[in-house]
Amino acid sequence: MIISAKSILLMAVALLGTSLSGVSLQKASNSEACNTPAAAAPEYAADGQLKLPEHYREWIYLTSNFYVSSDPAKIQMGQHQGFMNVFVNPEAYQAFLDTGIWADKTMLVAEMRAGEDMESTNQDPKGTDQNSVKGLFVHVKDEAHFPGRWAFFSFKGDKTAKVLPVTAACYSCHSARGGLDTTFVQFYPTLLPIAKGKNTISPAYLQEGKGAAATTK
Ligand code: HEC
Repeated sequence: MIISAKSILLMAVALLGTSLSGVSLQKASNSEACNTPAAAAPEYAADGQLKLPEHYREWIYLTSNFYVSSDPAKIQMGQHQGFMNVFVNPEAYQAFLDTGIWADKTMLVAEMRAGEDMESTNQDPKGTDQNSVKGLFVHVKDEAHFPGRWAFFSFKGDKTAKVLPVTAACYSCHSARGGLDTTFVQFYPTLLPIAKGKNTISPAYLQEGKGAAATTK
Protein backbone atom coordinates (compact mmCIF):
# COMPACT_ATOMS: atom_id res chain seq x y z
CA MET A 1 0.00 0.00 0.00
CA ILE A 2 1.32 3.41 -0.91
CA ILE A 3 0.53 6.09 1.63
CA SER A 4 0.54 9.67 0.38
CA ALA A 5 2.90 12.22 1.85
CA LYS A 6 -0.02 14.21 3.16
CA SER A 7 -1.54 11.28 4.98
CA ILE A 8 1.81 10.41 6.56
CA LEU A 9 2.12 13.93 7.84
CA LEU A 10 -1.43 13.99 9.12
CA MET A 11 -0.88 10.69 10.93
CA ALA A 12 2.26 12.10 12.51
CA VAL A 13 0.40 15.19 13.58
CA ALA A 14 -2.52 13.16 14.97
CA LEU A 15 -0.02 11.11 16.95
CA LEU A 16 1.58 14.24 18.26
CA GLY A 17 -1.78 15.66 19.26
CA THR A 18 -2.60 12.65 21.40
CA SER A 19 0.80 12.40 23.03
CA LEU A 20 1.56 16.05 23.62
CA SER A 21 -1.71 17.92 24.05
CA GLY A 22 -1.55 20.36 26.89
CA VAL A 23 2.23 20.29 27.05
CA SER A 24 4.06 23.58 27.17
CA LEU A 25 7.80 23.80 26.75
CA GLN A 26 10.08 25.89 28.91
CA LYS A 27 12.06 28.57 27.13
CA ALA A 28 15.84 28.58 27.34
CA SER A 29 17.01 31.54 29.37
CA ASN A 30 18.47 34.36 27.31
CA SER A 31 21.75 34.55 29.19
CA GLU A 32 22.43 30.87 28.50
CA ALA A 33 21.51 31.27 24.84
CA CYS A 34 24.06 34.08 24.42
CA ASN A 35 27.01 32.53 26.20
CA THR A 36 27.01 28.93 25.09
CA PRO A 37 28.16 27.97 21.58
CA ALA A 38 25.79 25.94 19.40
CA ALA A 39 25.99 22.24 20.22
CA ALA A 40 27.98 20.34 17.63
CA ALA A 41 27.04 16.84 18.76
CA PRO A 42 24.48 15.08 20.93
CA GLU A 43 25.18 15.43 24.65
CA TYR A 44 23.89 13.12 27.35
CA ALA A 45 23.20 13.65 31.05
CA ALA A 46 24.72 11.38 33.71
CA ASP A 47 21.61 9.19 33.62
CA GLY A 48 21.99 8.69 29.86
CA GLN A 49 19.13 10.97 28.81
CA LEU A 50 19.67 13.28 25.83
CA LYS A 51 20.20 16.93 26.73
CA LEU A 52 17.87 19.41 25.03
CA PRO A 53 19.79 21.06 22.14
CA GLU A 54 18.74 24.52 23.29
CA HIS A 55 20.25 26.40 20.36
CA TYR A 56 18.50 24.49 17.59
CA ARG A 57 16.90 27.75 16.41
CA GLU A 58 20.41 28.88 15.36
CA TRP A 59 20.91 25.74 13.25
CA ILE A 60 20.13 25.19 9.56
CA TYR A 61 16.46 25.49 8.65
CA LEU A 62 15.14 22.69 6.42
CA THR A 63 11.41 23.22 6.07
CA SER A 64 8.05 24.10 7.58
CA ASN A 65 5.02 21.98 6.92
CA PHE A 66 1.60 23.48 7.50
CA TYR A 67 -1.21 21.08 8.35
CA VAL A 68 -4.95 21.48 8.76
CA SER A 69 -7.28 18.96 10.36
CA SER A 70 -10.97 18.73 9.43
CA ASP A 71 -11.84 17.17 12.81
CA PRO A 72 -14.79 19.29 14.09
CA ALA A 73 -13.74 18.84 17.74
CA LYS A 74 -10.29 20.23 16.98
CA ILE A 75 -11.75 23.10 14.95
CA GLN A 76 -14.02 23.92 17.90
CA MET A 77 -11.00 24.10 20.23
CA GLY A 78 -8.93 26.06 17.70
CA GLN A 79 -6.40 23.20 17.58
CA HIS A 80 -6.91 22.11 13.99
CA GLN A 81 -3.93 23.78 12.34
CA GLY A 82 -0.24 24.10 13.00
CA PHE A 83 3.30 23.96 11.71
CA MET A 84 6.20 21.54 11.90
CA ASN A 85 9.55 23.36 11.56
CA VAL A 86 12.61 21.22 10.91
CA PHE A 87 16.23 22.14 11.78
CA VAL A 88 19.56 20.27 11.55
CA ASN A 89 22.89 20.92 13.24
CA PRO A 90 25.23 22.85 10.88
CA GLU A 91 27.99 20.20 10.91
CA ALA A 92 25.60 17.51 9.70
CA TYR A 93 24.18 19.86 7.06
CA GLN A 94 27.64 20.63 5.64
CA ALA A 95 28.54 16.95 5.57
CA PHE A 96 25.25 16.23 3.79
CA LEU A 97 26.02 18.78 1.09
CA ASP A 98 29.34 16.99 0.44
CA THR A 99 28.15 13.38 0.62
CA GLY A 100 24.35 13.22 0.38
CA ILE A 101 24.20 11.12 3.55
CA TRP A 102 23.74 11.85 7.24
CA ALA A 103 27.01 11.70 9.16
CA ASP A 104 27.34 10.19 12.62
CA LYS A 105 26.19 12.73 15.28
CA THR A 106 23.48 14.21 13.06
CA MET A 107 20.69 15.87 15.05
CA LEU A 108 17.36 16.75 13.43
CA VAL A 109 14.81 18.75 15.39
CA ALA A 110 11.08 18.96 14.58
CA GLU A 111 9.42 21.85 16.37
CA MET A 112 5.61 21.80 16.43
CA ARG A 113 3.84 25.13 16.67
CA ALA A 114 0.15 25.99 16.85
CA GLY A 115 -1.25 27.95 13.89
CA GLU A 116 -3.58 30.92 14.31
CA ASP A 117 -5.57 32.92 11.79
CA MET A 118 -3.94 36.31 11.38
CA GLU A 119 -6.39 39.01 12.42
CA SER A 120 -4.90 41.73 10.23
CA THR A 121 -5.00 39.71 7.01
CA ASN A 122 -8.30 37.98 7.57
CA GLN A 123 -9.58 39.13 4.18
CA ASP A 124 -7.95 37.79 1.05
CA PRO A 125 -5.42 36.22 1.00
CA LYS A 126 -5.84 34.70 4.45
CA GLY A 127 -2.79 34.27 6.62
CA THR A 128 -1.89 31.83 9.37
CA ASP A 129 0.84 32.66 11.81
CA GLN A 130 2.98 30.44 14.00
CA ASN A 131 2.19 30.47 17.66
CA SER A 132 3.26 28.66 20.84
CA VAL A 133 5.48 25.56 20.78
CA LYS A 134 3.37 22.41 21.21
CA GLY A 135 6.08 19.80 21.07
CA LEU A 136 9.72 19.17 20.29
CA PHE A 137 10.97 16.00 18.62
CA VAL A 138 14.64 15.13 18.16
CA HIS A 139 16.04 12.45 15.84
CA VAL A 140 19.68 11.61 16.58
CA LYS A 141 22.21 9.51 14.69
CA ASP A 142 24.77 8.24 17.17
CA GLU A 143 26.24 4.95 16.08
CA ALA A 144 28.18 4.18 19.25
CA HIS A 145 25.20 4.96 21.43
CA PHE A 146 22.24 3.24 19.78
CA PRO A 147 22.16 -0.29 18.31
CA GLY A 148 19.83 0.95 15.54
CA ARG A 149 22.21 3.92 14.89
CA TRP A 150 19.29 6.38 15.12
CA ALA A 151 17.06 7.22 18.11
CA PHE A 152 13.99 9.37 18.72
CA PHE A 153 13.27 11.69 21.63
CA SER A 154 10.28 13.81 22.63
CA PHE A 155 10.97 16.77 24.93
CA LYS A 156 8.05 17.67 27.17
CA GLY A 157 9.24 20.76 29.00
CA ASP A 158 12.32 19.21 30.64
CA LYS A 159 15.98 19.82 29.80
CA THR A 160 16.56 16.11 29.14
CA ALA A 161 14.53 13.32 27.51
CA LYS A 162 14.61 9.54 27.62
CA VAL A 163 15.15 7.64 24.38
CA LEU A 164 11.82 6.42 22.96
CA PRO A 165 11.57 2.61 22.78
CA VAL A 166 12.19 1.05 19.36
CA THR A 167 8.59 -0.19 19.42
CA ALA A 168 7.34 3.44 19.20
CA ALA A 169 5.54 4.34 15.95
CA CYS A 170 8.24 6.92 15.18
CA TYR A 171 10.68 4.17 14.17
CA SER A 172 8.35 2.16 11.95
CA CYS A 173 6.92 5.13 10.02
CA HIS A 174 10.30 6.80 9.52
CA SER A 175 11.95 3.58 8.45
CA ALA A 176 9.19 2.58 6.05
CA ARG A 177 8.41 6.01 4.59
CA GLY A 178 11.46 8.19 5.05
CA GLY A 179 13.20 8.62 1.70
CA LEU A 180 16.74 8.59 3.07
CA ASP A 181 18.11 6.71 6.07
CA THR A 182 14.88 6.98 8.15
CA THR A 183 14.59 10.73 7.49
CA PHE A 184 12.12 12.62 5.29
CA VAL A 185 14.61 14.23 2.93
CA GLN A 186 11.95 14.03 0.19
CA PHE A 187 10.27 16.98 1.97
CA TYR A 188 13.42 19.09 2.52
CA PRO A 189 13.68 21.22 -0.63
CA THR A 190 17.34 22.24 -0.26
CA LEU A 191 18.46 18.64 0.38
CA LEU A 192 16.38 16.64 -2.08
CA PRO A 193 18.39 17.80 -5.15
CA ILE A 194 21.64 16.92 -3.34
CA ALA A 195 20.36 13.43 -2.46
CA LYS A 196 19.12 12.90 -6.02
CA GLY A 197 22.41 14.12 -7.48
CA LYS A 198 24.44 11.83 -5.24
CA ASN A 199 22.02 8.95 -5.69
CA THR A 200 21.45 8.48 -1.98
CA ILE A 201 17.66 8.86 -1.94
CA SER A 202 15.81 5.54 -1.75
CA PRO A 203 15.25 4.07 -5.24
CA ALA A 204 11.74 3.11 -4.05
CA TYR A 205 11.07 6.77 -3.33
CA LEU A 206 12.13 7.72 -6.86
CA GLN A 207 10.00 4.98 -8.42
CA GLU A 208 6.91 5.29 -6.29
CA GLY A 209 6.87 8.99 -5.67
CA LYS A 210 6.27 10.01 -2.12
CA GLY A 211 5.36 6.58 -0.73
CA ALA A 212 8.99 5.95 0.08
CA ALA A 213 10.69 2.83 1.31
CA ALA A 214 13.71 2.87 3.59
CA THR A 215 17.30 2.90 2.42
CA THR A 216 20.17 1.66 4.52
CA LYS A 217 22.67 4.18 3.20
C1 HEC B 1 2.99 8.22 10.35
C2 HEC B 1 4.36 8.62 10.09
C3 HEC B 1 5.19 9.27 11.18
C4 HEC B 1 5.27 8.93 12.50
C5 HEC B 1 4.53 7.85 13.26
C6 HEC B 1 6.26 9.84 13.09
N1 HEC B 1 6.76 10.68 12.14
FE1 HEC B 1 8.28 12.00 12.39
N2 HEC B 1 8.04 12.67 10.49
C7 HEC B 1 7.07 12.21 9.61
C8 HEC B 1 7.10 13.03 8.40
C9 HEC B 1 6.21 12.86 7.18
C10 HEC B 1 8.11 14.00 8.61
C11 HEC B 1 8.53 15.13 7.66
C12 HEC B 1 7.85 16.38 8.14
C13 HEC B 1 8.09 17.63 7.38
O1 HEC B 1 8.57 17.62 6.27
O2 HEC B 1 7.75 18.70 7.95
C14 HEC B 1 8.68 13.72 9.92
C15 HEC B 1 9.76 14.42 10.44
C16 HEC B 1 10.28 14.19 11.69
C17 HEC B 1 11.47 14.82 12.19
C18 HEC B 1 12.39 15.72 11.38
C19 HEC B 1 13.62 14.94 10.95
C20 HEC B 1 13.45 13.70 10.07
O3 HEC B 1 13.67 12.61 10.59
O4 HEC B 1 13.10 13.82 8.88
C21 HEC B 1 11.63 14.41 13.47
C22 HEC B 1 12.72 14.82 14.44
C23 HEC B 1 10.53 13.50 13.77
N3 HEC B 1 9.74 13.38 12.64
C24 HEC B 1 10.35 12.86 14.98
C25 HEC B 1 9.34 11.94 15.23
C26 HEC B 1 9.11 11.32 16.53
C27 HEC B 1 9.90 11.57 17.80
C28 HEC B 1 8.05 10.47 16.36
C29 HEC B 1 7.41 9.57 17.40
C30 HEC B 1 6.95 10.18 18.64
C31 HEC B 1 7.63 10.56 14.96
N4 HEC B 1 8.43 11.46 14.32
C32 HEC B 1 6.62 9.82 14.42
C33 HEC B 1 6.29 11.09 9.77
C34 HEC B 1 6.11 10.39 10.96
